[in-house]
Amino acid sequence: MTLRRTTLICLACCQISAAAMAANTPAEEKAEMDRFVTELMSRMTLEEKLGQLNQQPSDEIATGPVVNSNASKLAAEGKLSSIFNIMDVEKIHALQKIAVEKSRLGIPILFGMDVIHGYHTIFPLPLGLSCTWDMEAVRQAAHIAAVEAAANGVAWTFSPMVDIALDSRWGRQAEGAGEDPYLGSLVAEAMVRGYQGDLFNPDGTEAGIMACVKHFALYGAAEAGLDYNTVDMSHLRMYNQYFPPYKAAVEAGAGSVMSSFNIVDGIPATANRWLLTEVLREQWGFKGMVVTDYASIHEMTSHGLGSLKDNAARALLAGTDMDMCANGFIGTLKQSLDEGKVAMEDIDRACRRVLETKYRLRLFKDPYRFGSKKEAASVTYCKEHRETARRITAESFVLLKNGTDGHPVLPLEMKGTIALIGPMIDTRTDITGSWSMPQDATKYSTLREGFKRALADKAQLLCTQGCNLTDNPKTQQAVAKGHNCEPIPFVDSRQAMMEAVEIARKADVVICAMGECAWMNGEGTSRSRLEMYPPQRRLLEALRQTGKPIVLLNFAGRGTVLTWESENVDAIMNVWYGSECADALCDVLFGKVSPSGRLTVSMPRSTGQEPLYYNRLPTGRPVPDGTKDYRVWSPNYLDAVQGPLYPFGYGLTYSTFSYSDIQLSSRTMNADGSITASIVVKNTGGREATEVVQLYIHDIAASISRPVKELKDFRRITLKAGESRNVEFHITADKLKFYNYNLDYVLESGEFDIMIGPNSRDVKKTSITVE
Ligand code: NOJ
Repeated sequence: MTLRRTTLICLACCQISAAAMAANTPAEEKAEMDRFVTELMSRMTLEEKLGQLNQQPSDEIATGPVVNSNASKLAAEGKLSSIFNIMDVEKIHALQKIAVEKSRLGIPILFGMDVIHGYHTIFPLPLGLSCTWDMEAVRQAAHIAAVEAAANGVAWTFSPMVDIALDSRWGRQAEGAGEDPYLGSLVAEAMVRGYQGDLFNPDGTEAGIMACVKHFALYGAAEAGLDYNTVDMSHLRMYNQYFPPYKAAVEAGAGSVMSSFNIVDGIPATANRWLLTEVLREQWGFKGMVVTDYASIHEMTSHGLGSLKDNAARALLAGTDMDMCANGFIGTLKQSLDEGKVAMEDIDRACRRVLETKYRLRLFKDPYRFGSKKEAASVTYCKEHRETARRITAESFVLLKNGTDGHPVLPLEMKGTIALIGPMIDTRTDITGSWSMPQDATKYSTLREGFKRALADKAQLLCTQGCNLTDNPKTQQAVAKGHNCEPIPFVDSRQAMMEAVEIARKADVVICAMGECAWMNGEGTSRSRLEMYPPQRRLLEALRQTGKPIVLLNFAGRGTVLTWESENVDAIMNVWYGSECADALCDVLFGKVSPSGRLTVSMPRSTGQEPLYYNRLPTGRPVPDGTKDYRVWSPNYLDAVQGPLYPFGYGLTYSTFSYSDIQLSSRTMNADGSITASIVVKNTGGREATEVVQLYIHDIAASISRPVKELKDFRRITLKAGESRNVEFHITADKLKFYNYNLDYVLESGEFDIMIGPNSRDVKKTSITVE
């Protein structure tokens, strides 16, 4: 017997009221949705249809050039399909009430927000989350973000950003999972699953919000790492290196996709039919809704593609469904229809996809189903979320250096006098990092507060800012202004340095919290130098003269250059922000937790090496990484040691591990077969710690040039002191396949290198043959 459940589809204004039978099978559900949307659309005017394609920002939080949204008026007229970045559930429901009760058809609004790495409980930046190499942690972080956002009225997040970013000069490297397509795909999938839960399951109970995969596509390949800059790329590279994370997110069921600002093959992604229709829908089977990025239809004019009217028509025809604040669809499509430049079916197609999305989110059933004051109060920044965030934040830190010649500096003991110095020590608004606009900074601890709490009566804590972030007071102001951050005070640098040196002299150890404040990474924050900003470096030089051990906490949202620091300070740990950062740092620095993060971007020795990434294509004249002496007629720099300072996958902990040679179950396999590669990993140090064992593959001879190394699998294992584990990887065709010259996804026979190790550089190697 088929069980049937009755669902009353009744908008509060009662202008559409239908008793509908919610069906059980996906096919029946789809048929029911089609009937509902078709019936609704049969009663919509052209203006109302265009209204459904219109999205506006709120005037509360600016995430782009500010546009006046005039939300209430548009909502009452049925011209506001979606709005983003409203902060309060009651405000959200009040606006929803206008749409539902005052507009002619009462179609509910879809409320979006940039919930990028948390709502009030803020996790590390997405780049930092990826450094955990822990997909369950990534899923959990996204899930907690969704629970809090949903409770506060948000139905849709513009996340995950899955753009591969090879160039650390690009500030938005912070928002993605780094440089690797395999890891990036796993992170993309985990985030979509975390955000959405069983959101689209009509019987689902788990809280969730709709994900939006962005920025489709290739935004991370902006030339010279300059944000919004042009992109030019072969299709081979797109399919093999840049597309996999978008595809993985689509396959994980993401309900929406955001197109990118950049051009793809000369045509802005916003209006690129090949991208938005052929690749996304026809090749990958995406069924959801496509929204533009911020006013990107408008920006097509500056790209050199003519008028807003022409570009709105092009965007629609390419497969765009919703126009984010360019007013191109709502303002010009009627005229384009009259002129025959678009057809009614084109408008209907986009309108249908938007209405289907709202239907699948069950907004017609209950326009107020996302959030309530009570729910918001019970889950937002609750104890359980904070504890999870503290654990995951600690998991994300990457220890890059710990003492010299086998004499570790960390973990520190809670005794004596500890100096905490640097521009990051007293900030509450910057501790969460960029893209944490829903945050409530009054709730968070500064580093000084966290350290004080942890050390209490055990050790004396001395603190001072010590230096400015940059030598330019205007930059220091600007990175805060416009982002609701308190600017880090611009201090007298001589005086500040003297104070810092004075307290360092009194201390047993000096901890420096430096690097980038929140909005020194994120959108529009390209850098031409990735070295430590000059005033911070000068302070480190002065502190070094005191002879005290120095621990550098490098706050960053990208790969930075730490060449001088690696030679001149005693310990370095990369920190990726988060509301619980202060407590998490104490957990790791004082040894309650051993660090376990591993880099997901290669850290260069100098900025001139960028874009620098481990999975590059070989040249005809290979020069090994680490080569110091310049070689003539070779692809090496005259003035640098070759390769990264800290490679992709790298990170230390408070223990050490040894790796045996690789054992293979067989040296040969056929297309349907598999080989097990195993390695014994031993904790050779004195305490329990976590290791990320990484498998890389290289196709030695193929029909096209293949990367020198590609990550294909990994295991995160925790071993007690002295414990060994046999770690196994199963090599099957899917780990060896690639898109060939014709863009067919193929397995080619021949020899492959199999490499296993703790990072992309220090690997054991063997080879297999595919027959
Ligand atoms: C522009 C950014 O590129 C995008 O990532 C973001 O979601 C939108 N602004 C909305 O804030």
